Amino acid sequence: MPGPGFEWIGEEEEKEVLDVLRSRWLFRYGDEKDPAFKRKVKTLEEMVEKRFGTGHALAVTSGTSALITALSALGIGPGDEVIVPGYTFIASISSIIIARAVPVLAEVDHSLTLDPADIEGRITPRTRAIMAVHMLGNACDMDRLRAIADKHHLILIEDAAQAFGGSYRGTWLGTMGRMGIYSFNIFKTINAGDGGMVVTDDDELYFRAFGYHDQGHFPSRSGVEVGNRSIIGQNFRMNEITGAVLIAQFRRLDDIITRLREIKSRFKSQIQGAPGLEFRTLNDPEGECNTLLTVLLPTKEAAERLAAKLRTTTVAKSGWHVYANMEHLLGKKMITEHGCPYNCACYPCQQEYRKGMLPRTDDLLARAINISIGVVDRGLGSAFGVHPRSTNQEIDQTVKQFAEALRESL
Ligand SMILES: Cc1ncc(COP(=O)(O)O)c(C=O)c1O
Repeated sequence: MPGPGFEWIGEEEEKEVLDVLRSRWLFRYGDEKDPAFKRKVKTLEEMVEKRFGTGHALAVTSGTSALITALSALGIGPGDEVIVPGYTFIASISSIIIARAVPVLAEVDHSLTLDPADIEGRITPRTRAIMAVHMLGNACDMDRLRAIADKHHLILIEDAAQAFGGSYRGTWLGTMGRMGIYSFNIFKTINAGDGGMVVTDDDELYFRAFGYHDQGHFPSRSGVEVGNRSIIGQNFRMNEITGAVLIAQFRRLDDIITRLREIKSRFKSQIQGAPGLEFRTLNDPEGECNTLLTVLLPTKEAAERLAAKLRTTTVAKSGWHVYANMEHLLGKKMITEHGCPYNCACYPCQQEYRKGMLPRTDDLLARAINISIGVVDRGLGSAFGVHPRSTNQEIDQTVKQFAEALRESL
């Protein structure tokens, strides 16, 4: 079980996909007059717009292409800096580099999301945006991040790749910044193998994002826009089969989150108050996706002992999401030897990345372990945990195993 959506793939997904295959229209654009053309991608976008109350949703090929599209639509590029947490997936950082802007890494706080207290000291005249990453299915402290962004006239972007279906004080994650993005890869709340989405309330940004995701075409690639193409862009189009799977998965969102919530609260309530154990701070417990339960131990050594007993790793030692483990970032390993943003004629960039540059983040991640509730991802350090289809007896057995390992580790 990589992510929760995986576990729920069933007959509805099959039916949706067959619908597309039988129609033979696999491209996101088709003959609107042909009843066989099912408009799955467009339907998915409309479903998200309606449910999340966002002005525009644009389906793309991945969370990474969603980030690149959003940054490009916002005009973030050479000479700009974007503040991003040091605990996130590489794509939050690499998309900024691909846009030829400079990622400025900042600390996370006890919620393991961007620490609002660490942002203002990193703002320079070049700072254009703050990227709020809702890590592990939980919201950043959006009120404080928004206040800082407003005070300094910065753009707030939400990377909600790991938090599709999560909310903050009643508002869907991804819909509070100028632009937000989601991922539908195999580890996410709902999944189609790969896939992504950009959301925004801003018509002009949607126009730019749409054009960027499809070689400057708008509103659809029907030929009418030839002579009027808006922008040099990419091909980040979602296809109809992906759209079909996601329609079925999206209908299951509430069931998925409800089930994960049941499991998580059963697990959490039984270990609550155990000596030496802390849970990470949740900025909005009501709105979490419940995919993981993150625990913190008093010391790095105790956390490593516990992780070994559970056959998992501390978050600090989990490969992908920790800046200090991103050798390609630390070494600024670019695809070409010279070029933006690090050897850029328009910006004498001094930015360096090195292990130990974020001591608070390092300390928190060294003491943290992710218990899987609905996502097994070694890159997140969540190889130990509970399966969503587990019986209560099986959940309690896993809790017991955890509690014993904890006692022996302290
Ligand atoms: C926080 C975060 N941002 C962006 C991405 C990129 O998404 P994708 O893998 O769909 O490109 C991921 C994927 O794991 C992620 O966790």
